[in-house]
Amino acid sequence: MPQRGRFITLEGGEGVGKSTNLAWVADWLAARGVEVVRTREPGGTSRAEAIRQLLLAPSAEEPLDSDAELLLVFAARAQHLARCIRPALARGAWVLCDRFTDATFAYQGGGRGIAAERIAELEAFVQQGLEPDLTLLLDMPVAAAQQRLQSRLTSGGAARDRFEQEQQRFFEAVREAYLARAEAAPARVAVVDADAPLEGVRERLAEVLEERVAPWLPQ
Ligand SMILES: Nc1ncnc2c1ncn2[C@@H]1O[C@H](COP(=O)(O)OP(=O)(O)O)[C@@H](O)[C@H]1O
Ligand SMILES: [Mg+2]
Repeated sequence: MPQRGRFITLEGGEGVGKSTNLAWVADWLAARGVEVVRTREPGGTSRAEAIRQLLLAPSAEEPLDSDAELLLVFAARAQHLARCIRPALARGAWVLCDRFTDATFAYQGGGRGIAAERIAELEAFVQQGLEPDLTLLLDMPVAAAQQRLQSRLTSGGAARDRFEQEQQRFFEAVREAYLARAEAAPARVAVVDADAPLEGVRERLAEVLEERVAPWLPQ
């Protein structure tokens, strides 16, 4: 039996640089001899990506109930865990995921106002104790992240999805909930200041990886 791989997640609100830095972190790991599976939530398998479409599609005719939203998030996660994450970890690959359950506590908890205890019940049911070994939380003020998103949108990106259409207050609550998660689990979550030029962000990411991940690498 190979040693189980490590599970690393990238978290943070819209526009903080998760997608931009995911490939860089994957390269950092690959350069150190690790097989890396890159994935994202909601989604990561074709059925889970279909659920992602349900979650993101704006619809004025039928607003999505927030409990239904929460259950869809965890339905996608169950599929992703069963068909992608768990098999990869079991064969010894490392999994690098753009968002995971901290995002549920931030968006459906902080943003939508669902009690953290209810989310934790679903977390226990779906994850059966599996949680990331390390979470890199990219943090920056909401207004600055919104500006980045604005330039992504005007430079020909897709239209705003259901979450991107939310207001400042929603994103502030998301940020606060993320920071509370980090504070509650400092051994797992490293907060990285994302409000800096890309090089600075990567220097800090490299520091965290050297400190926390290097000891896990195969010799
Ligand atoms: N450190 C940075 N400084 C300036 N712009 C950045 C930085 N990191 C990412 N960006 C830009 O900000 C936008 C949002 O980044 P992205 O990686 O898509 O964020 P996320 O995946 O977290 O929503 C992109 O246009 C990206 O090129
Ligand atoms: Mg992204």
